[in-house]
Amino acid sequence: MSTSTAQNSNWFIKHAKKLKEIMEQINDIRPEITNEYRAHTALKLMCVGYWSDIFTTILHSSRIPAIYVDICSGSGLTKIKDDSKLLPGSTIVAESYASYPYKFIICVDCDKTKTNALEMRMSRIRNKNSFKIFNGKIEEVIDDVCALVKQKHGIMFCFIDPEGFNGLDWDIYYKISKCRGDILITWDHPDIWRVFHKSIIDKGNELRMMNIFGNSIWKNAISNDELTERYINRLRERRDLVKSLDIIDENKIVYKELLCVRKTKDGSPWVSAYENNLKKQVEKKDAELMKMWLDIAYEKQSQLDRFSPSAQASTR
Ligand SMILES: C[S@@+](CC[C@H](N)C(=O)[O-])C[C@H]1O[C@@H](n2cnc3c(N)ncnc32)[C@H](O)[C@@H]1O
Repeated sequence: MSTSTAQNSNWFIKHAKKLKEIMEQINDIRPEITNEYRAHTALKLMCVGYWSDIFTTILHSSRIPAIYVDICSGSGLTKIKDDSKLLPGSTIVAESYASYPYKFIICVDCDKTKTNALEMRMSRIRNKNSFKIFNGKIEEVIDDVCALVKQKHGIMFCFIDPEGFNGLDWDIYYKISKCRGDILITWDHPDIWRVFHKSIIDKGNELRMMNIFGNSIWKNAISNDELTERYINRLRERRDLVKSLDIIDENKIVYKELLCVRKTKDGSPWVSAYENNLKKQVEKKDAELMKMWLDIAYEKQSQLDRFSPSAQASTR
Protein backbone atom coordinates (compact mmCIF):
# COMPACT_ATOMS: atom_id res chain seq x y z
CA MET A 1 0.00 0.00 0.00
CA SER A 2 1.42 3.45 -0.91
CA THR A 3 1.94 6.08 1.80
CA SER A 4 -0.86 8.26 0.43
CA THR A 5 -3.28 5.31 0.42
CA ALA A 6 -2.24 4.55 3.98
CA GLN A 7 -2.80 8.17 5.05
CA ASN A 8 -6.12 8.08 3.29
CA SER A 9 -7.10 4.91 5.15
CA ASN A 10 -6.07 6.57 8.39
CA TRP A 11 -8.46 9.46 7.67
CA PHE A 12 -11.38 7.04 7.31
CA ILE A 13 -10.39 4.92 10.27
CA LYS A 14 -10.12 8.06 12.40
CA HIS A 15 -13.66 9.07 11.42
CA ALA A 16 -14.99 5.52 11.81
CA LYS A 17 -13.59 5.55 15.35
CA LYS A 18 -15.21 8.92 15.99
CA LEU A 19 -18.57 7.60 14.75
CA LYS A 20 -18.19 4.62 17.07
CA GLU A 21 -17.44 6.88 20.07
CA ILE A 22 -20.45 9.06 19.27
CA MET A 23 -22.69 6.00 18.90
CA GLU A 24 -21.56 4.65 22.29
CA GLN A 25 -23.05 7.69 24.01
CA ILE A 26 -26.56 6.61 23.05
CA ASN A 27 -26.56 2.93 21.99
CA ASP A 28 -28.04 1.69 25.27
CA ILE A 29 -31.27 3.61 24.57
CA ARG A 30 -33.81 1.37 22.80
CA PRO A 31 -31.07 -0.38 20.77
CA GLU A 32 -33.72 -2.38 18.94
CA ILE A 33 -34.99 0.77 17.18
CA THR A 34 -32.70 1.64 14.30
CA ASN A 35 -32.62 2.61 10.65
CA GLU A 36 -30.91 -0.18 8.68
CA TYR A 37 -28.55 0.42 5.77
CA ARG A 38 -25.41 -0.91 4.11
CA ALA A 39 -21.95 0.32 5.12
CA HIS A 40 -22.08 3.16 2.58
CA THR A 41 -24.25 5.02 5.10
CA ALA A 42 -21.01 5.75 7.02
CA LEU A 43 -19.74 7.75 4.02
CA LYS A 44 -22.97 9.76 4.02
CA LEU A 45 -22.62 10.40 7.77
CA MET A 46 -19.07 11.64 7.24
CA CYS A 47 -20.41 14.21 4.75
CA VAL A 48 -22.95 15.43 7.33
CA GLY A 49 -20.29 15.57 10.04
CA TYR A 50 -17.78 17.32 7.81
CA TRP A 51 -20.20 20.06 6.80
CA SER A 52 -21.54 20.42 10.34
CA ASP A 53 -17.99 21.09 11.54
CA ILE A 54 -17.29 23.64 8.79
CA PHE A 55 -20.69 25.30 9.01
CA THR A 56 -20.58 25.85 12.77
CA THR A 57 -17.02 27.17 12.52
CA ILE A 58 -18.03 29.78 9.93
CA LEU A 59 -21.11 30.86 11.86
CA HIS A 60 -19.21 31.10 15.11
CA SER A 61 -16.69 33.48 13.51
CA SER A 62 -19.62 35.61 12.25
CA ARG A 63 -21.31 35.46 15.69
CA ILE A 64 -24.54 34.18 14.13
CA PRO A 65 -26.45 31.35 15.86
CA ALA A 66 -26.39 28.05 13.97
CA ILE A 67 -29.56 25.98 13.59
CA TYR A 68 -29.53 22.35 12.41
CA VAL A 69 -32.57 20.99 10.55
CA ASP A 70 -32.84 17.26 9.82
CA ILE A 71 -35.63 16.38 7.37
CA CYS A 72 -36.19 12.61 7.46
CA SER A 73 -34.04 12.33 10.56
CA GLY A 74 -34.64 8.66 11.32
CA SER A 75 -34.13 7.27 14.83
CA GLY A 76 -30.66 8.56 15.72
CA LEU A 77 -29.17 5.06 15.50
CA THR A 78 -28.26 3.12 12.35
CA LYS A 79 -27.61 -0.59 12.03
CA ILE A 80 -25.33 -1.84 9.26
CA LYS A 81 -27.25 -4.58 7.49
CA ASP A 82 -24.35 -6.92 6.76
CA ASP A 83 -22.90 -7.23 10.25
CA SER A 84 -25.24 -5.41 12.70
CA LYS A 85 -22.65 -2.79 13.67
CA LEU A 86 -24.26 0.34 15.11
CA LEU A 87 -23.56 3.88 13.94
CA PRO A 88 -25.02 7.17 15.15
CA GLY A 89 -27.83 8.64 13.01
CA SER A 90 -27.49 11.91 11.12
CA THR A 91 -28.81 14.22 13.87
CA ILE A 92 -26.47 12.77 16.48
CA VAL A 93 -23.58 13.08 14.02
CA ALA A 94 -24.38 16.71 13.14
CA GLU A 95 -24.60 17.58 16.84
CA SER A 96 -21.39 15.78 17.78
CA TYR A 97 -19.28 17.06 14.86
CA ALA A 98 -20.31 20.68 15.44
CA SER A 99 -17.23 22.68 16.38
CA TYR A 100 -19.50 25.10 18.30
CA PRO A 101 -22.91 24.01 19.58
CA TYR A 102 -26.03 24.60 17.53
CA LYS A 103 -28.43 27.05 19.15
CA PHE A 104 -31.35 24.82 18.18
CA ILE A 105 -31.99 21.52 16.37
CA ILE A 106 -35.16 20.63 14.46
CA CYS A 107 -35.93 17.09 13.27
CA VAL A 108 -38.77 15.57 11.27
CA ASP A 109 -39.68 11.94 10.65
CA CYS A 110 -43.03 10.34 9.88
CA ASP A 111 -42.31 7.15 11.87
CA LYS A 112 -43.47 7.57 15.48
CA THR A 113 -41.30 4.74 16.84
CA LYS A 114 -38.25 6.43 15.35
CA THR A 115 -39.05 9.94 16.57
CA ASN A 116 -39.72 8.57 20.08
CA ALA A 117 -36.32 6.86 20.12
CA LEU A 118 -34.63 9.96 18.69
CA GLU A 119 -36.26 12.11 21.38
CA MET A 120 -34.76 9.88 24.10
CA ARG A 121 -31.34 9.82 22.43
CA MET A 122 -31.25 13.58 21.89
CA SER A 123 -32.31 14.18 25.50
CA ARG A 124 -29.13 12.37 26.56
CA ILE A 125 -26.83 14.72 24.64
CA ARG A 126 -28.75 18.03 24.59
CA ASN A 127 -30.87 20.18 26.81
CA LYS A 128 -34.54 19.38 26.14
CA ASN A 129 -35.35 23.03 25.47
CA SER A 130 -32.83 23.22 22.68
CA PHE A 131 -34.42 20.84 20.18
CA LYS A 132 -37.79 20.00 18.69
CA ILE A 133 -38.74 16.77 16.97
CA PHE A 134 -41.76 16.76 14.68
CA ASN A 135 -43.49 13.45 14.15
CA GLY A 136 -45.30 13.63 10.83
CA LYS A 137 -44.86 13.76 7.10
CA ILE A 138 -42.62 16.63 6.11
CA GLU A 139 -45.25 17.65 3.55
CA GLU A 140 -47.60 18.32 6.48
CA VAL A 141 -45.19 20.07 8.86
CA ILE A 142 -42.85 22.00 6.53
CA ASP A 143 -44.55 25.34 7.24
CA ASP A 144 -44.14 24.82 11.01
CA VAL A 145 -40.50 23.84 10.51
CA CYS A 146 -39.78 26.99 8.44
CA ALA A 147 -41.60 29.18 10.98
CA LEU A 148 -39.51 27.71 13.81
CA VAL A 149 -36.24 28.23 11.91
CA LYS A 150 -37.13 31.89 11.34
CA GLN A 151 -38.18 32.32 14.96
CA LYS A 152 -34.69 31.25 16.11
CA HIS A 153 -33.00 34.11 14.19
CA GLY A 154 -30.08 32.04 13.05
CA ILE A 155 -28.77 30.43 9.89
CA MET A 156 -29.50 26.78 9.24
CA PHE A 157 -27.65 23.76 7.99
CA CYS A 158 -30.46 21.56 6.67
CA PHE A 159 -29.96 17.89 5.77
CA ILE A 160 -32.67 16.27 3.62
CA ASP A 161 -32.24 12.49 3.61
CA PRO A 162 -35.39 11.05 2.04
CA GLU A 163 -36.47 7.44 1.77
CA GLY A 164 -36.14 6.98 -1.97
CA PHE A 165 -37.83 10.22 -2.93
CA ASN A 166 -40.35 10.29 -0.08
CA GLY A 167 -39.77 13.56 1.70
CA LEU A 168 -38.06 15.25 -1.26
CA ASP A 169 -40.83 17.03 -3.13
CA TRP A 170 -39.75 20.25 -4.83
CA ASP A 171 -42.17 22.09 -2.61
CA ILE A 172 -40.17 21.02 0.48
CA TYR A 173 -36.88 22.23 -0.97
CA TYR A 174 -38.50 25.44 -2.20
CA LYS A 175 -39.99 26.26 1.20
CA ILE A 176 -36.93 25.40 3.28
CA SER A 177 -34.69 27.27 0.81
CA LYS A 178 -36.50 30.47 1.84
CA CYS A 179 -34.71 30.13 5.19
CA ARG A 180 -31.11 31.35 5.17
CA GLY A 181 -28.47 28.63 5.15
CA ASP A 182 -26.99 25.57 3.48
CA ILE A 183 -28.87 22.48 2.35
CA LEU A 184 -27.42 18.99 1.87
CA ILE A 185 -29.59 16.54 -0.07
CA THR A 186 -29.23 12.78 -0.52
CA TRP A 187 -30.16 12.15 -4.14
CA ASP A 188 -31.04 8.63 -5.26
CA HIS A 189 -29.21 8.81 -8.60
CA PRO A 190 -29.93 5.21 -9.77
CA ASP A 191 -33.55 5.20 -8.68
CA ILE A 192 -34.56 8.39 -10.48
CA TRP A 193 -34.03 6.53 -13.76
CA ARG A 194 -36.39 3.76 -12.62
CA VAL A 195 -39.11 6.24 -11.61
CA PHE A 196 -38.60 8.10 -14.89
CA HIS A 197 -39.09 4.88 -16.90
CA LYS A 198 -42.22 3.97 -14.98
CA SER A 199 -43.57 7.49 -15.52
CA ILE A 200 -43.80 6.78 -19.25
CA ILE A 201 -46.49 4.17 -18.68
CA ASP A 202 -47.89 5.05 -15.29
CA LYS A 203 -49.69 8.25 -14.25
CA GLY A 204 -48.79 7.76 -10.56
CA ASN A 205 -45.07 7.83 -11.35
CA GLU A 206 -45.51 10.75 -13.73
CA LEU A 207 -47.04 12.68 -10.83
CA ARG A 208 -44.16 11.57 -8.64
CA MET A 209 -41.64 12.98 -11.14
CA MET A 210 -43.63 16.22 -11.27
CA ASN A 211 -43.55 16.44 -7.47
CA ILE A 212 -39.81 15.78 -7.26
CA PHE A 213 -38.83 18.28 -9.96
CA GLY A 214 -41.70 20.72 -9.42
CA ASN A 215 -42.19 21.14 -13.17
CA SER A 216 -41.74 19.13 -16.38
CA ILE A 217 -38.00 19.85 -16.83
CA TRP A 218 -37.32 16.08 -16.47
CA LYS A 219 -39.29 15.11 -19.55
CA ASN A 220 -37.37 13.67 -22.54
CA ALA A 221 -34.16 13.09 -20.56
CA ILE A 222 -32.05 10.29 -22.04
CA SER A 223 -30.06 9.03 -19.03
CA ASN A 224 -29.98 9.30 -15.26
CA ASP A 225 -26.91 11.52 -15.57
CA GLU A 226 -29.07 13.94 -17.49
CA LEU A 227 -31.93 13.67 -14.99
CA THR A 228 -29.52 14.41 -12.15
CA GLU A 229 -28.02 17.34 -14.06
CA ARG A 230 -31.48 18.78 -14.67
CA TYR A 231 -32.34 18.35 -10.99
CA ILE A 232 -29.12 20.13 -10.00
CA ASN A 233 -29.98 22.97 -12.38
CA ARG A 234 -33.34 23.20 -10.69
CA LEU A 235 -31.70 23.35 -7.23
CA ARG A 236 -29.49 26.18 -8.55
CA GLU A 237 -32.59 28.33 -8.97
CA ARG A 238 -32.57 28.68 -5.15
CA ARG A 239 -28.87 28.24 -4.27
CA ASP A 240 -26.34 29.24 -6.91
CA LEU A 241 -23.64 26.77 -5.87
CA VAL A 242 -24.57 23.08 -5.95
CA LYS A 243 -21.71 20.63 -5.40
CA SER A 244 -22.23 16.94 -6.01
CA LEU A 245 -20.37 14.09 -4.31
CA ASP A 246 -20.81 10.42 -5.34
CA ILE A 247 -21.28 7.67 -2.76
CA ILE A 248 -20.08 4.42 -4.32
CA ASP A 249 -20.90 0.82 -3.42
CA GLU A 250 -19.82 -2.22 -5.44
CA ASN A 251 -18.42 0.08 -8.16
CA LYS A 252 -21.76 1.82 -8.67
CA ILE A 253 -23.07 5.19 -7.55
CA VAL A 254 -25.68 4.47 -4.88
CA TYR A 255 -26.50 8.09 -4.24
CA LYS A 256 -25.13 11.58 -4.52
CA GLU A 257 -24.78 14.10 -1.73
CA LEU A 258 -25.75 17.50 -3.17
CA LEU A 259 -24.55 20.49 -1.19
CA CYS A 260 -26.53 23.65 -2.02
CA VAL A 261 -25.11 26.98 -0.85
CA ARG A 262 -25.21 30.64 -1.77
CA LYS A 263 -22.20 32.14 -3.51
CA THR A 264 -20.43 34.61 -1.27
CA LYS A 265 -18.46 37.71 -2.33
CA ASP A 266 -15.17 36.08 -1.31
CA GLY A 267 -15.69 33.12 -3.67
CA SER A 268 -17.09 30.70 -1.05
CA PRO A 269 -13.74 29.21 0.05
CA TRP A 270 -15.45 26.74 2.39
CA VAL A 271 -17.23 25.16 -0.52
CA SER A 272 -13.84 24.55 -2.10
CA ALA A 273 -12.98 22.58 1.04
CA TYR A 274 -16.02 20.36 0.40
CA GLU A 275 -14.86 19.84 -3.18
CA ASN A 276 -11.13 19.63 -2.65
CA ASN A 277 -10.96 17.76 0.64
CA LEU A 278 -14.10 15.78 1.34
CA LYS A 279 -15.06 14.98 -2.25
CA LYS A 280 -11.52 13.88 -3.08
CA GLN A 281 -11.41 11.65 -0.01
CA VAL A 282 -14.84 10.09 -0.23
CA GLU A 283 -15.72 9.94 -3.91
CA LYS A 284 -13.23 7.33 -5.06
CA LYS A 285 -13.91 5.01 -2.15
CA ASP A 286 -16.09 1.97 -2.47
CA ALA A 287 -18.24 1.14 0.53
CA GLU A 288 -16.48 -2.25 0.57
CA LEU A 289 -13.43 -0.36 1.86
CA MET A 290 -15.63 1.45 4.36
CA LYS A 291 -16.68 -1.92 5.73
CA MET A 292 -13.05 -2.81 6.31
CA TRP A 293 -12.30 0.53 7.99
CA LEU A 294 -15.32 0.10 10.26
CA ASP A 295 -14.11 -3.40 11.15
CA ILE A 296 -10.76 -1.98 12.14
CA ALA A 297 -12.27 0.88 14.14
CA TYR A 298 -14.77 -1.37 15.89
CA GLU A 299 -12.89 -4.56 16.55
CA LYS A 300 -9.30 -4.76 15.52
CA GLN A 301 -7.77 -1.60 16.83
CA SER A 302 -4.28 -3.05 16.60
CA GLN A 303 -4.62 -3.28 12.82
CA LEU A 304 -4.47 0.51 12.70
CA ASP A 305 -0.71 0.08 12.78
CA ARG A 306 -0.81 -1.73 9.46
CA PHE A 307 -1.93 1.49 7.78
CA SER A 308 0.46 3.95 9.37
CA PRO A 309 3.35 5.09 7.15
CA SER A 310 5.86 4.48 9.96
CA ALA A 311 4.74 0.87 10.30
CA GLN A 312 5.10 0.43 6.55
CA ALA A 313 8.54 1.95 6.53
CA SER A 314 9.65 -0.42 9.25
CA THR A 315 8.45 -3.45 7.29
CA ARG A 316 10.13 -2.45 4.04
C1 LIG B 1 -32.86 7.51 4.87
S1 LIG B 1 -33.82 7.45 6.32
C2 LIG B 1 -33.11 8.67 7.32
C3 LIG B 1 -31.81 8.30 7.94
C4 LIG B 1 -31.19 9.39 8.79
N1 LIG B 1 -31.19 10.67 8.11
C5 LIG B 1 -29.79 9.03 9.17
O1 LIG B 1 -28.87 9.25 8.37
O2 LIG B 1 -29.59 8.53 10.29
C6 LIG B 1 -35.29 8.15 5.80
C7 LIG B 1 -36.32 8.42 6.88
O3 LIG B 1 -37.36 9.17 6.27
C8 LIG B 1 -38.57 8.90 6.93
N2 LIG B 1 -39.61 9.36 5.99
C9 LIG B 1 -40.05 8.77 4.84
N3 LIG B 1 -40.95 9.54 4.23
C10 LIG B 1 -41.11 10.68 5.00
C11 LIG B 1 -41.89 11.84 4.90
N4 LIG B 1 -42.72 12.02 3.88
N5 LIG B 1 -41.78 12.78 5.86
C12 LIG B 1 -40.94 12.59 6.93
N6 LIG B 1 -40.18 11.49 7.07
C13 LIG B 1 -40.23 10.55 6.12
C14 LIG B 1 -38.50 7.42 7.22
O4 LIG B 1 -39.30 7.08 8.34
C15 LIG B 1 -36.99 7.22 7.48
O5 LIG B 1 -36.71 7.18 8.87
